[in-house]
Amino acid sequence: MAEQGQAVASGDPIAGSAVFPRGSRVNEEGHLEVAGCDVVELAEKHGTPAYVYAEDDIRARAREYRQAFEDRRADYEVLFASKSLPCTAAYRLFVEEGLSVDVASGGELHMALKAGFDPERIHMHGNNKSDEEILFAARAGIRHLILDSFDEIERCERLLDEPQPVLIRVTPGIKPSTHDYITTGQLDSKFGFGLEDGLAARAVERVLASEKLELVGLHAHIGSQIF
Ligand SMILES: Cc1ncc(COP(=O)(O)O)c(C=O)c1O
Repeated sequence: MAEQGQAVASGDPIAGSAVFPRGSRVNEEGHLEVAGCDVVELAEKHGTPAYVYAEDDIRARAREYRQAFEDRRADYEVLFASKSLPCTAAYRLFVEEGLSVDVASGGELHMALKAGFDPERIHMHGNNKSDEEILFAARAGIRHLILDSFDEIERCERLLDEPQPVLIRVTPGIKPSTHDYITTGQLDSKFGFGLEDGLAARAVERVLASEKLELVGLHAHIGSQIF
């Protein structure tokens, strides 16, 4: 890689870096090219900051995730955490690639449905779901509602007309190697029920005693961009 400010030679091995979408290169002008587009031209045309997505690369990565499981077992599901790119075109792309999806708001759920996701492939997260969002998700027939707090458990029981399969989000007390701002699995996380402080066990008891909520399993997320 060239030093900052230094001209980049055509053919610089950007293509070998996992940071850039596959097929990225430095073109004859010395400009970065992503998915066949010169990013300097894109910046001139669209202004900056601009987000540029390489569809081929996204599809290839989705297939790799599926293949990795397919090679090992028949019973698996790969989910796109759609908060990372909530737009209908992206949802549609993952429908086509056979992924499932995790949504964390009514807006994301709306787009996932519009893009053609089978509700059976939609899982609803979020630590601040409104009554309307809970009802929207349940009535759309999503697969799992992921419960995040005792308040939410109580509201689900009050609001739901039909039994709803649920997961309970637990914070397992694991601190991964990543930036503090994007860790989610530690005990004082804003998400879920702690394993270590006994809240998760109480949540499980509470849901098992419910007539409306069907406990299917636990969910845990420990953070993003883990090394
Ligand atoms: C339930 C859930 N899924 C996915 C994500 C995004 O995670 P990642 O960056 O690992 O895709 C988060 C981030 O907080 C999350 O809470």
